[in-house]
Amino acid sequence: MLDLLIQNASLPDGRTGMSVAVRGGKIVEISAGLHAPAHEILDAGGYLLSPHFVDPHFHMDATLSYGLPRVNQSGTLLEGIALWGELKPLLTADALIERALTYCDWAVAKGLLAIRSHVDTSDPSLLAVDALLAVKKQVAPYITLQLVAFPQDGVLRSPGGVENLKRALDKGVDVVGGIPHFERTMLEGAASVKLLCEIAAERGLLVDMHCDESDDPLSRHIETLAFEAQRLGLQGRVTGSHCTSMHSMDNYYVSKLIPLIAESQVSVIANPLINITLQGRHDSYPKRRGMTRVPELMAAGVNVAFGHDCVMDPWYGMGSGDMLEVAHMGLHVAQMTSQNGIRQCFDAVTTNAAKVMHLQGYGLEVGCDASFVLLQARDAVEAIRLRANRLKVWRKGKLLAETAEVVARLHVEGQFNEVSFSRT
Ligand code: FE2
Repeated sequence: MLDLLIQNASLPDGRTGMSVAVRGGKIVEISAGLHAPAHEILDAGGYLLSPHFVDPHFHMDATLSYGLPRVNQSGTLLEGIALWGELKPLLTADALIERALTYCDWAVAKGLLAIRSHVDTSDPSLLAVDALLAVKKQVAPYITLQLVAFPQDGVLRSPGGVENLKRALDKGVDVVGGIPHFERTMLEGAASVKLLCEIAAERGLLVDMHCDESDDPLSRHIETLAFEAQRLGLQGRVTGSHCTSMHSMDNYYVSKLIPLIAESQVSVIANPLINITLQGRHDSYPKRRGMTRVPELMAAGVNVAFGHDCVMDPWYGMGSGDMLEVAHMGLHVAQMTSQNGIRQCFDAVTTNAAKVMHLQGYGLEVGCDASFVLLQARDAVEAIRLRANRLKVWRKGKLLAETAEVVARLHVEGQFNEVSFSRT
């Protein structure tokens, strides 16, 4: 007897009319038109069943703090960092936890069941670290929360930066972070990358650094990161986040850089909503987009994922935990508007992001966890076009969230009609 049998589902790989059978929280069979006894049988109505969304780059210690203690007037990255510095002394663990838990509720409703969040380790009290470790424990039954020790003020630039970061790792933070472009000089930035990768290698941890979040084409810390990944045998365990300077780099240099990134198996995370907002701020016209070279990296075989980065915090006043909104912005900024390009953007917020996080049991295959989302869309392209409604969200076979089907009722010229915006 199955626990759950979903029939007539479309899958991200293009198959339609598929049945997905679940027992003991795992997918036990995927086949066309399966009929078998089950405690619950659900007709998916041809809608898309996808593995759940994954956000590989977020800042949960800052989320939902928009306007505290004031709004970012210039809207720039640097004013955002300064504003975060003003907010930090005012933070309380209780308020931070409450905001993070609220965000996790939003995430579940949007089918976002795994989040990698950076947590600022610059404050010697490690208040945010303790708070997010408590959140990680509390949400574990419904969200996989992975934490990155992130020295926002620079691991070498801020007093006690290295010690604070190591103490955060000792407490159970999962991943080593960094911010080389915020160190005092290029040399110090490179030294921070080397040091942090060595700490990760010693401790057997993954690495994910904010790397070259800048319009400066000479900000080349991703090169050092790829080199250190190879030198220390960390292939497949290192991620460069943002890498926006690559947008402005000379093409000749990039023709050497991208193969180096591919060779070292470093993943790259773009954050389209934030990159399009914060980069190019010193430009008049034409203004640069400032997002890293997503299609070129993908074409070279680099694992590229998209992150949300911010939701209602000192850097960004928008967002709701919707990774389809992230993918939607990503495909526009990267001009990935071919059918294949759009599907690659869907992968960037699902399978590619899961690979960054080294998630176990992820995917829509037999033996994987039954953790998926039923979208009110026929395929991945339509899901992004509509930022599709999440009809049902399951984790390990357990229903976590439901949203009613969205249908507009028209009363035009006395004719009654229903519109769902989905292709028929
Ligand atoms: Fe970030």
